[in-house]
Amino acid sequence: MWNIDHVITLILLPIGFIVTGTVLLTGKEIEKREKYLISTKENLWQLFSNFIHGIKEIKGNCKEEYTLKCISSNSNEFKNADNKAVAFQTFSQGINQFFFMGIIAFIMVYGAVRVKLGLLSIGGLSAIMMYNGLLVDPLIELFSLYQRMKAQFVNIERIQSIFDIKTEEYFSGKEHFSFNKEIKFENVSFVYPNTEKKVLDNINFTILKGEKVALVGRSGQGKTTIIKLLSKFYEPTSGQIYIDDKPLSSYSVSSLRRKIAIVYQDFFLFRGTILDNIVFGDSIYSDEEINRAIEIAGLRETINRLPNGLNTYIGEDGVKLSSGEKQRVGIARAVLRNPEILILDEAVSNLDSCITKDILDNIKIFFKDKTIIFIIHKLTFITDFPRIVLVENGYIVGDGTHSELMLKNLLYREIYQSQFRTFEKT
Ligand SMILES: Nc1ncnc2c1ncn2[C@@H]1O[C@H](COP(=O)(O)OP(=O)(O)O)[C@@H](O)[C@H]1O
Ligand SMILES: [Mg+2]
Repeated sequence: MWNIDHVITLILLPIGFIVTGTVLLTGKEIEKREKYLISTKENLWQLFSNFIHGIKEIKGNCKEEYTLKCISSNSNEFKNADNKAVAFQTFSQGINQFFFMGIIAFIMVYGAVRVKLGLLSIGGLSAIMMYNGLLVDPLIELFSLYQRMKAQFVNIERIQSIFDIKTEEYFSGKEHFSFNKEIKFENVSFVYPNTEKKVLDNINFTILKGEKVALVGRSGQGKTTIIKLLSKFYEPTSGQIYIDDKPLSSYSVSSLRRKIAIVYQDFFLFRGTILDNIVFGDSIYSDEEINRAIEIAGLRETINRLPNGLNTYIGEDGVKLSSGEKQRVGIARAVLRNPEILILDEAVSNLDSCITKDILDNIKIFFKDKTIIFIIHKLTFITDFPRIVLVENGYIVGDGTHSELMLKNLLYREIYQSQFRTFEKT
């Protein structure tokens, strides 16, 4: 082109740069709109899954209309964000085409003037037109590819950010977990990630192997957090937990969790039968072991009542069982694993007093050599425990037997007496 006509080439070059610059700028805007689109999509799905989980609450409180309104406003936001993102991409691609067609038109008009003035031959003009014609299509393709890629990179970045999250194995030690002597919390403090409040503050206590400890205290004081640290769901913010004088961090997560069984208050059941949920994917247990776990968890009567016994399908999250029955399935699962350390975190809270007493007695007999940590709300069940640890506001404020604590610990006495009064009344 330069050889044919210097002037036209010199005019076209800066136009080419301007078009490229504009395309790069639209790339930034496309990225911004795509990010917003993804965030509205995420909000919508989170809301949706939240409402599906809470369907009982929604129906129970007649909040269907409110729920639909929320979903509708979020899906409108998503729709608008989608429209805006698509509109901008289409618009900017249209602008690209417009620019390029404009260039061709300019060459035709300005070239014709130059031909008329005798500054350019018809053949030269045709050659310049042909060069540009050949260039335009691939360039339009290239620029719109760039714009589409800009949008896709936002998605790739989101996926990458998930891949970049450090897994538990990253924090895991290498050593195989062994427990022969004691669990020791030494000056352990803990703050949950992205929060300020110290949930545990300089906690010190030791649990010997084989000991049966009741961890008590009012709700929200840090009991479950102690268990989460012991099972390595989190690392202490400061201080250290030792197992037999070795820091907990040196043990591998999987070997540790194989030796610890925890039953939570809000125990989750998976799709399948009761048996599936008790054995939980392991086919190593004999019928005798399974039956013993069922007896210990006080689940026999429930199973006998069900149409297909152990093989009764209980639906996702055990929707066909009461919350007390669910908790007992959880206890049976934990007992069957025969762990070194058994932890029941408010796991009998939905059971009536007689069954609770039976289950606690069964567990104490069956696990007489094992370490047991009971987190329990109702103090009347643990008055015969050899050791009771009282947690209040992230501190250990009492440690002893029931009679010792009743004598020396004002808070324990108050909690016990307030519960005992309601217990007597009912
Ligand atoms: N995942 C979490 N993120 C932030 N704060 C939490 C989290 N879990 C619990 N907490 C806070 O930590 C405190 C102690 O909770 P928790 O150990 O569950 O108490 P407890 O088991 O004694 O009822 C509470 O104030 C609670 O709000
Ligand atoms: Mg708790």
